[in-house]
Amino acid sequence: FTFLLLLITLLAPPAFSLSVPSTSRYSRPTTAYLDQRPGTSGLRKKTKVWTEDAMFMNNLIQSYLNVLSSRSSPSSKPLSILLASDGRYHSVPSIAQISKVCGANSDIVSTLHVPRNGVQSTPSCSSYIRSPKNDCSAAIILTASHNPGGPEADFGVKFNGCNVVIVDPYEEYVEALEKFFDFKLLKDYASKGNRILFDGMHGAGGPFGKKILGDILGFKEDCFMRCDPREDFGGCHPDPNLTYGKELVERMGLDGKGRKTGKGENFQLGAANDGDGDRNLICGKGVFVTPSDSLAVIADRWEDISSNGALKGVARSMPSSAAVDIVAKKKGVRNFVTPTGWKFFGNLMDSEELGGESFNPFLCGEESFGTGSSHIREKDGLWAVLAWASILAKSPSLTVEDVVNQHWEKYGRHYYARYDYEECGSDGANDMMEHLRGMVGETLSEGGGDYVLKKVESFSYTDPVTEEVTANQGMILSFLVKGSPARAVFRLSGTGSAGATVRMYLEKYDGEYFGGNSQEELKGLGEKAIEIANLEGFTGRKEPTVIT
Ligand code: G6P
Ligand code: ZN
Repeated sequence: FTFLLLLITLLAPPAFSLSVPSTSRYSRPTTAYLDQRPGTSGLRKKTKVWTEDAMFMNNLIQSYLNVLSSRSSPSSKPLSILLASDGRYHSVPSIAQISKVCGANSDIVSTLHVPRNGVQSTPSCSSYIRSPKNDCSAAIILTASHNPGGPEADFGVKFNGCNVVIVDPYEEYVEALEKFFDFKLLKDYASKGNRILFDGMHGAGGPFGKKILGDILGFKEDCFMRCDPREDFGGCHPDPNLTYGKELVERMGLDGKGRKTGKGENFQLGAANDGDGDRNLICGKGVFVTPSDSLAVIADRWEDISSNGALKGVARSMPSSAAVDIVAKKKGVRNFVTPTGWKFFGNLMDSEELGGESFNPFLCGEESFGTGSSHIREKDGLWAVLAWASILAKSPSLTVEDVVNQHWEKYGRHYYARYDYEECGSDGANDMMEHLRGMVGETLSEGGGDYVLKKVESFSYTDPVTEEVTANQGMILSFLVKGSPARAVFRLSGTGSAGATVRMYLEKYDGEYFGGNSQEELKGLGEKAIEIANLEGFTGRKEPTVIT
């Protein structure tokens, strides 16, 4: 079975199906792994954890299947599951291994759907399992998203949701995007010589970018970089931000702090996707668009972008800036602020109470470079690129810089930066959060200095649909900086594969001055927040690993 499957995924023949006999279950003794706790989006571990002990994967998949079968009624038919990867190292052997586990559970799983070559972006997987004609009820996606890949890096499993069916990974996804965007307008824009520089970061988004932007919309070959998926992402860290997207931002005339270099090539738009194609970075010539601003601009110009009707609602994660909030207010649409984690948006989009299907279109975004909408319910890297391309195609005389400047003139600017302290000791990081929690409700000094701390809160969310309360989702320190509202947020990442990652998010509103550089404008606020949190004392870190 393994051998056959390997042949199928590697040689990519046309549709093929293999029956799994529904005989008694194949069993093997095992013990529980206490560290198999899925984080914000699946379970991520160092690759070695998966390669050195096959039972680690077997246990995880068996647990998923047990939960699935415990939820279905005795009469329900066996499930069809999509099994895909972002192409990272260890994906092909894992597809074979998981197929065996599913084969041994043929009373629960009847069919596996595997994309040609095993590679499919997360948004495409999401559109695939949502399409009724595929009759597929869940997806197992082998990815650690934007984390590096390779024997010394990371591997992970996301669960969304044994015959073998080789499927076309593009069809549904292209259909979903076509419903949303005016492809004719975009084709016309490409045919007039406008150019988008698209960086696939050697992940699963690359072939999707080439297919849709290149083959379908007609952007030329020189618009694509790093679009061939590689097991180790070509040695790069496939996270689209100013640090790891260095080559792209340089070609777009930007430095690692998002400042204009005065150099760069002639592209109207620059964009990158992460390892599994669900995150995005957007920039123009000499201008970087923060994810929070990108969401706000897309919301503001919604009617230029999509023919899918007036926008019904928007949502952002708490650590994202409040830029979209003021757009929502002006447009009179509903606005939600959720904890970090895309699943919280899913609940809102699905909700009957909030409007169900008629709540479409609904727009969501996160500071972590995720933007998307009710079109497939997932965040979607390519969707964001098409949204920006549509804004430009609708008003071809505008540059990305013009679009952003017009936005700030209308609404004011939220300067924004994030500091990451990766792989800190867990104890120190937890103690720091406790220390901040101890400041909740304290009377804080009102007087003196440029930075006045007004309040410390712990973010807690009550889901408006399920009424479920999710507490301790980050500490918010509210400031007044020379009279303007500002804040610093501290939270621990849920996606690291080792130790604890402390994130500090900085934000300052300015209604008048828009010309500054975010990282420079927020440096002083960062220093103050670090001092209040005693970050250096608790974690021993003098400098962040990454600033985005
Ligand atoms: C994944 C999730 C996002 C979330 C992000 C945060 O990408 O899909 O919804 O915003 O992780 O990661 P963090 O490391 O900050 O927990
Ligand atoms: Zn991702």
